[in-house]
Amino acid sequence: MTRSHSIAVLPGDGIGPEVVACALDVLDAAEQRFGFTTERSELAAGANHYLATGELFDAVEPLLRDEDAILFGSMGDPRVTPGILERGFILEMRQRFQQAANVRPVRLYPGVPTPIAGLTPERCEMVIVRENTEGAYVGRGSTVHAGTPHAVAMQESLNTRAGIERVVDFSFRLALGRRRRLTLCHKTNILVAAGQLWQQVVADVGERYPEVEVDYVHVDAMCFHLPLTPERFDVVVTDNLFGDIITDLGAVIQGGLGVATSANLNLDGSAPSMFEAIHGSAPDIAGSGRANPAGAILSLALMLGHLGEGDAARAVEAATVEVLGGLPALAGEEMGLSTSQIGSRIAEIVREGRADTALVPDSLLGVLASLEPSRL
Ligand code: IPM
Ligand code: MG
Repeated sequence: MTRSHSIAVLPGDGIGPEVVACALDVLDAAEQRFGFTTERSELAAGANHYLATGELFDAVEPLLRDEDAILFGSMGDPRVTPGILERGFILEMRQRFQQAANVRPVRLYPGVPTPIAGLTPERCEMVIVRENTEGAYVGRGSTVHAGTPHAVAMQESLNTRAGIERVVDFSFRLALGRRRRLTLCHKTNILVAAGQLWQQVVADVGERYPEVEVDYVHVDAMCFHLPLTPERFDVVVTDNLFGDIITDLGAVIQGGLGVATSANLNLDGSAPSMFEAIHGSAPDIAGSGRANPAGAILSLALMLGHLGEGDAARAVEAATVEVLGGLPALAGEEMGLSTSQIGSRIAEIVREGRADTALVPDSLLGVLASLEPSRL
């Protein structure tokens, strides 16, 4: 029987629809090549939909809940007050669907230019796992005497043992299939209460994984080590806020936001996982053909890995790397090819079975695929 997966597609705003269209072309090619099918429901969500209807995540939640996975473009628009879509849709989805682990590979692909002088792909191949439902992103806090010179703002950070434990356990399992090194990134010298809990959980869970070596780096020091000695890191686990910040730095190292990608994984099968590029909606270049679709296409690869289509995931990653490595620049007109041309080239390589998986021998996607989806 043909394998079939039911997915929701949320193209969103700005460049989201154009990069997601490329990812769907590549998905067509992968289905033909690897003999599976998808049932796709494309849903309107984002700024236009919000401005027309006032609807945010609540409205689509029931439509998404039974899907096998969600492919997400980007959200954000200058006409909508900052925070409304980010909190009302993206964070709401991550929290309500308990997408506990935000998995962000930081991998410099062969041929891709990096601003870090002398950095080579062998030295830059890590995965940052960002806790995705708690910390400072729970939206709890209060303001007193607002608008007066005595204004007081309190912003809380929520850290639960259960929330930390599930993401730490996932990170150990990921490390086990890789170079067997797990780094906790936090700020335990200052954020003592949260820091102690994170450290304790890493120590306790680590007893179940004696093969994995554990390391610790403060988040400020991480900003120094990440660009200079990325080879030190295999899997990095960190809290929501620190993860948000250091993964942008990671994206720079690996060639820019156009290349970086992520998986928002529900680890207990209670709701679908969501796959998205790290870049935003970039309204200034929307429709101009200057957006790099690689991040979105690699998020498709992560989704395929998660759905158990490991061979397709590897082929999509390899084909993307081949095309990316040949671009003179990774953004703007200087790329030499338009958004849709890049997508078509990648799709063609996948469709014709020409993807050279030796380009990504230690495929992260392969590792993700080897973690049983039911256990993710
Ligand atoms: C990210 C983004 C989001 C976040 C925003 C858009 C809500 O910065 O995915 O890193 O803060 O997590
Ligand atoms: Mg961010």
